[in-house]
Amino acid sequence: MVRVSRRYLEASSHATTMSYAFVHEGKGRPPIDLTIGQPDVKPPSVLVELLASEARSVDASRYPPPQGLRELREALASYMREFYGVDAEPEDIVVLVGAKPGIAASIYSVCDRGGRVAVLTPHFYAYEIASLMLDAKPVFIRLSWEEGVLRADEEEVKRVFEEEKPCLTIINTPHNPTGLLLDEALLDLIADLASDHGSTILSDEVYAWLVYRGSHRPLVSRYGPNLVIHLESFSKTLAVPGWRLGFIYSESRLSRAYTFFNANVYTGVPRFIQRAVARYISDYREDMLAFVDRMRRLYEKRAQTLIEALNALEGLVDYYMPAAGFFVFLGTEGLEKRLGVKDSEELASLLASKAGVFVVPGRVFGDWPHHVRVSLTAPEARLKEAVSRIAELAARG
Ligand SMILES: Cc1ncc(COP(=O)(O)O)c(C=O)c1O
Repeated sequence: MVRVSRRYLEASSHATTMSYAFVHEGKGRPPIDLTIGQPDVKPPSVLVELLASEARSVDASRYPPPQGLRELREALASYMREFYGVDAEPEDIVVLVGAKPGIAASIYSVCDRGGRVAVLTPHFYAYEIASLMLDAKPVFIRLSWEEGVLRADEEEVKRVFEEEKPCLTIINTPHNPTGLLLDEALLDLIADLASDHGSTILSDEVYAWLVYRGSHRPLVSRYGPNLVIHLESFSKTLAVPGWRLGFIYSESRLSRAYTFFNANVYTGVPRFIQRAVARYISDYREDMLAFVDRMRRLYEKRAQTLIEALNALEGLVDYYMPAAGFFVFLGTEGLEKRLGVKDSEELASLLASKAGVFVVPGRVFGDWPHHVRVSLTAPEARLKEAVSRIAELAARG
């Protein structure tokens, strides 16, 4: 029998992965899948045309350079300068296979074995798992969001920095799974502590363009690339998650570490994908801005529709209006009691089997046994239908 590493066994034992094998007994009603964090809209058609034409170019099938094509890095450096006001150069940018590998690459590039990675929870699962995969230790800071803004207890934040001395602190605002923004005072506190304790901040900005309430300035613009590594991708912004195109912008010494990671793990993103996006963000700015504006309005409208529909479950579910992206994190204790289940994992199975409504249990995002994440990547009518099926189930008790 082949050997399986202890590293893998340990990391995977922490992973609460979704089971898509839920049985659906919804009496012929088609299931409504509100689990997926990927846009249900088509990418901009100009961009798709560019991709098709670049796929025919002579060198399209050659290996890409591990740091990314120069022309894309130039386009991204001017994008960073123009939109985020930072003094970016192509040397400071590394193209990645989406934002996700940027998490592992950051832990690898910044931390040594046993290093602590500070994670604000609820959190995108890869922060925790990638830390464990790389022999680092995630340490958690709990967030709360009573007034529609993400906050943390100041003493707890200070304690984590003083006692754990994290090598890396991961911040994700706009945030998955809540769809909210981090309180600015909390950001300033973390930036001060990180700077005092020599911790680097990884700022996961995959939802930066999808803010529809309040405003957001990427952390690298606020605190600079000596403290902050900027991680972004086009998966959500341009609705192309399967193209796998992301990038980091950081100080050039770190960029070399990411390039080394790329060179030895996956080489890089196909040339034609890099070229298509480089041309789109440089030559079709108006189209890009109009597209993201349409996305923001679409998700805001869906969020409003969902929140209005959730009034029907008042008292059973805790909800709020999100500010960005396409998720809402609902408190489900009341609904669990009504339906006689012990936590949101059992609730998610019950909703799947009895109502054909699929949501993600809170444990996927850390120690959140009484929440579920709902994705807004479904049309309004489906969102309303999902809530009315849940209400029907709750009425039966
Ligand atoms: C917070 C966060 N970071 C990173 C990612 C990964 O993005 P990508 O598709 O670019 O790898 C996701 C995807 O869901 C996410 O929600």
